Amino acid sequence: MALYALGDLHLSFQADKSMDKFGRVWKNHERKIEKYAGRTVKPEDTLVLTGDHSWGRKLDECSEDLDFIARLPGRKILLRGNHDMFWNANKTKQLNEEFAGKLFFLQNNFAAYRDYALVGTKGYTFEGPFYLDGRGRITGWDEEREQQAKKLVDREMKRLRESFRQAEEAGYRKFVMFLHYPPTNILEETSPFTEIAEEYRVSAVVYSHCHGESRFGDSIRGEFHGIRYLLVSGDYLGFRPELVLE
Ligand SMILES: [Fe+2]
Ligand SMILES: [Fe+2]
Repeated sequence: MALYALGDLHLSFQADKSMDKFGRVWKNHERKIEKYAGRTVKPEDTLVLTGDHSWGRKLDECSEDLDFIARLPGRKILLRGNHDMFWNANKTKQLNEEFAGKLFFLQNNFAAYRDYALVGTKGYTFEGPFYLDGRGRITGWDEEREQQAKKLVDREMKRLRESFRQAEEAGYRKFVMFLHYPPTNILEETSPFTEIAEEYRVSAVVYSHCHGESRFGDSIRGEFHGIRYLLVSGDYLGFRPELVLE
């Protein structure tokens, strides 16, 4: 039994949104996902998909994408990405009813894996309010966007705390924390997300969202303050699911 993660599949079986222009790694990426998941993930394993599943904007525009995910081996747990317009956070319960036995949607709830609770939410990091030039130097600051970003972080932290609360209430003391966005923005060393990860002494923080070589280093990778941070963006991993726990 093993726990795997992979993010940002960006499927478009029903939408005209080829990812090929973003580089060779995206060419026939659906086939790569199928192939590598088929080789590594066993029926008894769990595969967490960390968001940006589909380009479809409504549920009926991504049914083929969700069916594709449902056909991958193992138990599939989905996190919300910023592009997952089909998923209204307040209607997660309905999604879980509709896809019961096929997919589990992780939002304001948790999933059990052995004696671990899998908790998570989309998270939020922003490319601004600072503006950077080509060398990464700050050239400006937008206070209005900073306030807006703080609100979004607060909302996501509430959702994440709710996920931890339910897991704790059910008796779990070991956690793996999933985010779609990186845990910090590129100027931060810590954030409310790294703080809560440390507060609950999570075994790992798993995130994606960063695409392309120049963005892979935007946040923490590897060990930080005793916690393992794993970037699992599909293009970063060549679409091979990453082992999180055995
Ligand atoms: Fe993405
Ligand atoms: Fe994203």
